[in-house]
Amino acid sequence: MREVVEVQYSALKGFGTSTVPGHKSVLAFGLIEGVPVVAMLGRLHPYEGHSMSTVVYPIRLMAHLGVKDMIITNAAGSLRPTIPVGTIVVIHDHIALPLLTGLNPLLGPPTSPDHARFVPLSSAYSRPLRLAAFRAAHALGLEKDALAEGTYTWVSGPTYETPAEGRFLRSVGGDVVGMSTIPEVVAARDEGLNVLVLSLVTNLVVIPDSYRSVREEVEAEIAGLSIARPSTPTVTHEEVLAVGKQKAEVMKNLVAKIIGSLSNA
Ligand code: ADE
Repeated sequence: MREVVEVQYSALKGFGTSTVPGHKSVLAFGLIEGVPVVAMLGRLHPYEGHSMSTVVYPIRLMAHLGVKDMIITNAAGSLRPTIPVGTIVVIHDHIALPLLTGLNPLLGPPTSPDHARFVPLSSAYSRPLRLAAFRAAHALGLEKDALAEGTYTWVSGPTYETPAEGRFLRSVGGDVVGMSTIPEVVAARDEGLNVLVLSLVTNLVVIPDSYRSVREEVEAEIAGLSIARPSTPTVTHEEVLAVGKQKAEVMKNLVAKIIGSLSNA
């Protein structure tokens, strides 16, 4: 970004502060590929204890500043072996259990008389922006498998999924899972912004093929048989940050290329 002006969230009335390790709390204004942009360096999530209205406040502010297109990047876990770590998934749909069951940023009176009471999300993810993402990847010479398309499943966090929850999210049609983004997408659509979401797969969700029964293990012990004790892998935030760091350059180039292509659209 060129000609950068940074403003601390703490200097902005109504803004929350990001508490997640690796996230700053800075709003950066500047130019990318000559296009005026505003970037959030650090996100706000409900799992930090922020209210939904605080989480989406920056989106509403950006809409009022005249932003028309919003690109959200996030870290996500893959629910499919066909989507390996390091893949950037261009999100085309979502499944958000918290939205369906009462954690929705639009609960309450409409923001203003110009806002719809019932906001459709059937085409929440802009097709022109998704096309722009794949065109940009091609123009950058990224490998064909560097980008995939998929459905984001939103969980509130801050716990990672259990194996059974991972299997559930996959079986209902999720491709990746994460703890962010969806409140912002909803507010952006409420404000009429075009939305693109790019999820970087930082880890595979732990979904063992089968459950190793402890009863069988004890029975084998009693029968004097030796049996391998399976260890259950876990996801860590350090792993998520490390992959994010490795792929930061690719993500940065991709986002810049997409932004550059918007100025010619
Ligand atoms: N972010 C990165 N990996 C995740 C996972 N497995 N679940 C939820 N959010 C994530």
